[in-house]
Amino acid sequence: MPRSLRSRNETPWFKTHCVYRLVWIGLNEPSICIEKARPEDSQEILRVINETNREAFGRIIPKEHFKEPILTREELCECLEKMTFYLLRHEEQTVAVAALSVEDEDSGRIRWVHVLPAYQNRGFGTALVRHLEKVGEELGLKKMKLVTDDGAKWAIRFYHRLGYTLAHSVPNPWGFDVWMEKQLPLQPDTK
Ligand SMILES: CC(C)(COP(=O)(O)OP(=O)(O)OC[C@H]1O[C@@H](n2cnc3c(N)ncnc32)[C@H](O)[C@@H]1OP(=O)(O)O)[C@@H](O)C(=O)NCCC(=O)NCCS
Repeated sequence: MPRSLRSRNETPWFKTHCVYRLVWIGLNEPSICIEKARPEDSQEILRVINETNREAFGRIIPKEHFKEPILTREELCECLEKMTFYLLRHEEQTVAVAALSVEDEDSGRIRWVHVLPAYQNRGFGTALVRHLEKVGEELGLKKMKLVTDDGAKWAIRFYHRLGYTLAHSVPNPWGFDVWMEKQLPLQPDTK
């Protein structure tokens, strides 16, 4: 049967592939899988992003500026045309998401990295970002960029640990947006 026609419950190929990938990026948990999101995953993406965002950014962004939900179904539809979402599943449940957009020939942008509060500090965010970097490398990208909030000290520390450095800051109505970036290793055929 072609891969595209198999249901999730009978897809040993992607499980093997994902587990291989996760071992490669340093997270050896057989119950974890990262896969590209499909249109029918929209509800799960919205749930993870909005629940996580509310808990994390609701604490640091003043009420008058806090957008709730941060992402509507319509906005997600627009996002899906511009970027690729990845889901991290733990025991068949979607517990974290992240997206990659290709900005130009050389650079990619990491977007919407959200790990449900109950699943944070287990290496899942690291696994997702490394996965996006690997995809970026395979696409021949040289640089990854991202933006977060200056008040989100946990996120800045998280990205620092992954090798991202501060590029510049842009004022927003309640503080600053912080842009961070990282050079990706050159692939052998582009060296
Ligand atoms: C920021 C965020 C994505 C990080 O995801 P995470 O899964 O919690 O991150 P990790 O577990 O990979 O790494 C976080 C910490 O856990 C530690 N860690 C990493 N792997 C671990 C593991 N297997 N077991 C236990 N701890 C681990 C790391 O040392 C790291 O510590 P530090 O950053 O305090 O130095 C997550 O906290 C989140 O979704 N926050 C809310 C939304 C947000 O801020 N998104 C990013 C900006 S838009």
